[in-house]
Amino acid sequence: MFSLLIRRDGLIEPPPIGELDAHCHLLPGLDDGPPNEREALAIARLLLAMGVRTAVATPHVISDVYPNSTEVILEAVSRMRRLLRESGLALEIIAGAEYYAENDLLDLIARDDLLAFGSEKYVLFESPVECQPMVLEEIVFNLRSAGYTPLLAHVERYRYLQTDHDLVEHLRQLGVCFQVNHPSFHLPKTSRRGEMARWLYTRGFVDLLGTDMHRASPLIQPSRGSLKRPDSRRRP
Ligand SMILES: [Fe+2]
Repeated sequence: MFSLLIRRDGLIEPPPIGELDAHCHLLPGLDDGPPNEREALAIARLLLAMGVRTAVATPHVISDVYPNSTEVILEAVSRMRRLLRESGLALEIIAGAEYYAENDLLDLIARDDLLAFGSEKYVLFESPVECQPMVLEEIVFNLRSAGYTPLLAHVERYRYLQTDHDLVEHLRQLGVCFQVNHPSFHLPKTSRRGEMARWLYTRGFVDLLGTDMHRASPLIQPSRGSLKRPDSRRRP
Protein backbone atom coordinates (compact mmCIF):
# COMPACT_ATOMS: atom_id res chain seq x y z
CA MET A 1 0.00 0.00 0.00
CA PHE A 2 1.40 3.41 -0.98
CA SER A 3 0.93 6.62 1.00
CA LEU A 4 0.41 9.93 -0.79
CA LEU A 5 2.50 13.02 -0.03
CA ILE A 6 2.34 16.28 -1.97
CA ARG A 7 5.62 18.09 -2.53
CA ARG A 8 6.09 21.87 -2.49
CA ASP A 9 6.12 21.94 -6.28
CA GLY A 10 2.63 20.43 -6.31
CA LEU A 11 3.72 17.04 -7.62
CA ILE A 12 3.04 13.86 -5.72
CA GLU A 13 6.02 12.51 -3.84
CA PRO A 14 6.92 9.38 -5.81
CA PRO A 15 6.61 6.08 -4.00
CA PRO A 16 9.93 4.50 -3.05
CA ILE A 17 11.13 1.93 -5.54
CA GLY A 18 11.39 -0.59 -2.71
CA GLU A 19 13.36 -3.81 -2.82
CA LEU A 20 11.63 -5.35 -5.83
CA ASP A 21 12.14 -4.24 -9.43
CA ALA A 22 9.27 -5.99 -11.22
CA HIS A 23 10.38 -5.05 -14.72
CA CYS A 24 13.92 -4.75 -16.01
CA HIS A 25 16.05 -5.85 -18.92
CA LEU A 26 19.34 -7.01 -17.50
CA LEU A 27 20.00 -10.33 -19.23
CA PRO A 28 22.82 -9.77 -21.70
CA GLY A 29 22.22 -10.28 -25.40
CA LEU A 30 18.56 -11.31 -25.31
CA ASP A 31 16.81 -8.14 -26.39
CA ASP A 32 17.44 -4.39 -26.49
CA GLY A 33 18.92 -4.57 -23.01
CA PRO A 34 22.63 -4.90 -22.16
CA PRO A 35 24.70 -6.23 -25.07
CA ASN A 36 27.24 -7.97 -22.83
CA GLU A 37 27.98 -9.15 -19.29
CA ARG A 38 29.89 -6.01 -18.36
CA GLU A 39 26.83 -3.85 -19.08
CA ALA A 40 24.56 -6.33 -17.30
CA LEU A 41 26.70 -6.11 -14.17
CA ALA A 42 26.64 -2.31 -14.39
CA ILE A 43 22.83 -2.45 -14.31
CA ALA A 44 22.92 -4.82 -11.35
CA ARG A 45 25.22 -2.45 -9.44
CA LEU A 46 22.91 0.46 -10.21
CA LEU A 47 19.85 -1.45 -9.00
CA LEU A 48 21.62 -2.40 -5.78
CA ALA A 49 22.64 1.23 -5.24
CA MET A 50 18.94 2.17 -5.58
CA GLY A 51 18.07 -0.29 -2.81
CA VAL A 52 16.68 -3.00 -5.06
CA ARG A 53 17.40 -6.49 -3.75
CA THR A 54 15.32 -8.60 -6.15
CA ALA A 55 14.89 -7.98 -9.86
CA VAL A 56 12.48 -9.75 -12.16
CA ALA A 57 14.37 -10.17 -15.42
CA THR A 58 11.79 -9.45 -18.11
CA PRO A 59 13.30 -9.69 -21.59
CA HIS A 60 10.99 -8.89 -24.47
CA VAL A 61 9.13 -11.78 -26.07
CA ILE A 62 7.96 -10.52 -29.46
CA SER A 63 7.52 -13.13 -32.16
CA ASP A 64 9.08 -11.26 -35.10
CA VAL A 65 11.67 -9.29 -33.15
CA TYR A 66 12.76 -11.11 -29.97
CA PRO A 67 11.44 -14.70 -30.10
CA ASN A 68 12.92 -15.59 -26.70
CA SER A 69 11.71 -18.97 -25.52
CA THR A 70 11.16 -19.92 -21.89
CA GLU A 71 14.18 -22.23 -22.11
CA VAL A 72 16.46 -19.50 -23.46
CA ILE A 73 15.38 -17.06 -20.74
CA LEU A 74 15.85 -19.63 -17.95
CA GLU A 75 19.36 -20.45 -19.22
CA ALA A 76 20.22 -16.74 -19.34
CA VAL A 77 18.91 -16.28 -15.79
CA SER A 78 21.11 -19.15 -14.57
CA ARG A 79 24.15 -17.59 -16.26
CA MET A 80 23.32 -14.18 -14.77
CA ARG A 81 22.92 -15.61 -11.28
CA ARG A 82 26.33 -17.26 -11.59
CA LEU A 83 27.89 -14.05 -12.87
CA LEU A 84 26.42 -12.07 -9.98
CA ARG A 85 27.69 -14.62 -7.49
CA GLU A 86 31.19 -14.56 -9.00
CA SER A 87 31.13 -10.75 -8.90
CA GLY A 88 30.03 -10.63 -5.26
CA LEU A 89 26.76 -8.83 -6.05
CA ALA A 90 23.83 -9.78 -3.82
CA LEU A 91 21.06 -9.16 -6.33
CA GLU A 92 18.45 -11.89 -6.56
CA ILE A 93 17.10 -12.57 -10.03
CA ILE A 94 13.65 -13.97 -10.77
CA ALA A 95 12.89 -15.26 -14.27
CA GLY A 96 10.16 -13.40 -16.09
CA ALA A 97 9.38 -11.96 -19.49
CA GLU A 98 7.68 -8.97 -21.08
CA TYR A 99 5.24 -10.56 -23.49
CA TYR A 100 3.92 -8.57 -26.39
CA ALA A 101 0.13 -8.54 -26.76
CA GLU A 102 -0.10 -10.48 -30.00
CA ASN A 103 -1.54 -13.75 -31.29
CA ASP A 104 1.55 -15.69 -30.29
CA LEU A 105 0.92 -14.82 -26.66
CA LEU A 106 -2.46 -16.53 -26.93
CA ASP A 107 -0.62 -19.61 -28.20
CA LEU A 108 1.82 -19.48 -25.25
CA ILE A 109 -1.09 -19.24 -22.80
CA ALA A 110 -2.81 -22.20 -24.49
CA ARG A 111 0.40 -24.25 -24.17
CA ASP A 112 0.94 -23.02 -20.59
CA ASP A 113 4.42 -21.93 -21.62
CA LEU A 114 4.77 -18.74 -19.58
CA LEU A 115 7.21 -17.27 -17.10
CA ALA A 116 5.11 -16.00 -14.19
CA PHE A 117 6.37 -14.66 -10.87
CA GLY A 118 5.21 -14.17 -7.31
CA SER A 119 2.48 -15.96 -5.41
CA GLU A 120 -0.03 -14.09 -7.61
CA LYS A 121 1.54 -15.69 -10.71
CA TYR A 122 1.96 -12.34 -12.45
CA VAL A 123 2.46 -12.45 -16.21
CA LEU A 124 3.91 -9.16 -17.45
CA PHE A 125 2.70 -8.11 -20.89
CA GLU A 126 2.92 -4.96 -22.97
CA SER A 127 0.73 -3.34 -25.57
CA PRO A 128 1.44 -1.10 -28.55
CA VAL A 129 1.75 2.51 -27.42
CA GLU A 130 -0.77 4.12 -29.71
CA CYS A 131 -3.79 1.85 -29.84
CA GLN A 132 -5.46 -0.96 -27.97
CA PRO A 133 -4.62 -4.33 -29.50
CA MET A 134 -7.66 -6.30 -30.58
CA VAL A 135 -6.40 -9.31 -28.62
CA LEU A 136 -6.09 -7.44 -25.31
CA GLU A 137 -9.25 -8.61 -23.62
CA GLU A 138 -8.84 -12.15 -24.95
CA ILE A 139 -5.33 -12.26 -23.47
CA VAL A 140 -6.62 -11.01 -20.12
CA PHE A 141 -9.49 -13.50 -20.08
CA ASN A 142 -7.31 -16.45 -21.09
CA LEU A 143 -4.58 -15.60 -18.58
CA ARG A 144 -7.09 -15.38 -15.75
CA SER A 145 -8.81 -18.57 -16.85
CA ALA A 146 -5.42 -20.32 -16.73
CA GLY A 147 -4.82 -19.13 -13.16
CA TYR A 148 -2.46 -16.22 -13.91
CA THR A 149 -2.65 -12.55 -12.96
CA PRO A 150 -2.29 -10.31 -16.01
CA LEU A 151 0.15 -7.49 -15.25
CA LEU A 152 0.14 -4.69 -17.81
CA ALA A 153 3.62 -3.18 -18.20
CA HIS A 154 4.25 0.59 -17.91
CA VAL A 155 0.56 1.50 -18.04
CA GLU A 156 1.37 5.22 -17.99
CA ARG A 157 2.91 4.97 -21.44
CA TYR A 158 -0.10 4.06 -23.58
CA ARG A 159 -1.69 7.01 -25.37
CA TYR A 160 -5.03 5.23 -25.70
CA LEU A 161 -5.20 4.88 -21.90
CA GLN A 162 -3.90 8.39 -21.19
CA THR A 163 -6.94 9.73 -23.03
CA ASP A 164 -9.50 7.19 -21.82
CA HIS A 165 -9.56 6.66 -18.09
CA ASP A 166 -12.83 4.75 -18.40
CA LEU A 167 -10.91 2.10 -20.29
CA VAL A 168 -8.34 2.01 -17.49
CA GLU A 169 -11.15 1.41 -14.99
CA HIS A 170 -12.59 -1.24 -17.30
CA LEU A 171 -9.28 -3.11 -17.42
CA ARG A 172 -9.14 -3.04 -13.62
CA GLN A 173 -12.61 -4.53 -13.49
CA LEU A 174 -11.44 -7.28 -15.82
CA GLY A 175 -8.75 -8.13 -13.27
CA VAL A 176 -5.71 -6.52 -14.86
CA CYS A 177 -2.96 -5.45 -12.45
CA PHE A 178 -0.77 -2.49 -13.33
CA GLN A 179 2.99 -2.05 -13.34
CA VAL A 180 4.32 1.52 -13.55
CA ASN A 181 7.86 2.57 -14.40
CA HIS A 182 9.38 4.34 -11.42
CA PRO A 183 11.24 6.96 -13.49
CA SER A 184 7.90 8.19 -14.89
CA PHE A 185 7.03 9.75 -11.53
CA HIS A 186 9.93 12.15 -11.98
CA LEU A 187 8.64 13.54 -15.28
CA PRO A 188 7.27 17.11 -15.19
CA LYS A 189 3.64 18.18 -15.34
CA THR A 190 4.03 18.79 -19.06
CA SER A 191 4.63 15.07 -19.60
CA ARG A 192 1.53 13.00 -20.35
CA ARG A 193 3.39 9.94 -19.12
CA GLY A 194 4.29 11.63 -15.82
CA GLU A 195 0.75 12.88 -15.29
CA MET A 196 -0.65 9.43 -16.07
CA ALA A 197 1.74 7.79 -13.60
CA ARG A 198 0.64 10.23 -10.89
CA TRP A 199 -3.05 9.72 -11.72
CA LEU A 200 -2.64 5.95 -11.48
CA TYR A 201 -0.89 6.34 -8.15
CA THR A 202 -3.59 8.67 -6.79
CA ARG A 203 -6.27 6.18 -7.84
CA GLY A 204 -4.44 3.37 -6.05
CA PHE A 205 -3.85 1.61 -9.36
CA VAL A 206 -0.11 0.97 -8.99
CA ASP A 207 0.34 -2.68 -8.13
CA LEU A 208 4.04 -3.06 -8.87
CA LEU A 209 6.91 -0.73 -9.69
CA GLY A 210 9.73 -1.38 -12.09
CA THR A 211 12.67 0.47 -13.54
CA ASP A 212 12.32 -0.96 -17.07
CA MET A 213 16.04 -0.39 -17.13
CA HIS A 214 17.77 -1.39 -20.37
CA ARG A 215 21.20 0.16 -19.84
CA ALA A 216 23.14 1.48 -16.89
CA SER A 217 23.19 4.95 -18.45
CA PRO A 218 19.85 6.74 -18.95
CA LEU A 219 21.41 8.41 -21.96
CA ILE A 220 21.46 5.17 -23.91
CA GLN A 221 18.06 3.70 -23.11
CA PRO A 222 16.63 2.49 -26.43
CA SER A 223 13.91 4.53 -28.05
CA ARG A 224 10.54 2.80 -27.87
CA GLY A 225 9.85 3.73 -31.47
CA SER A 226 12.95 1.89 -32.61
CA LEU A 227 11.38 -1.53 -32.18
CA LYS A 228 9.72 -3.09 -35.17
CA ARG A 229 6.30 -4.01 -33.92
CA PRO A 230 4.45 -6.99 -35.35
CA ASP A 231 0.81 -6.85 -36.31
CA SER A 232 -1.07 -7.31 -33.06
CA ARG A 233 -4.43 -8.06 -34.61
CA ARG A 234 -6.05 -11.41 -34.09
CA ARG A 235 -5.56 -13.83 -36.93
CA PRO A 236 -8.76 -14.43 -38.89
FE1 LIG B 1 10.39 -3.36 -20.75
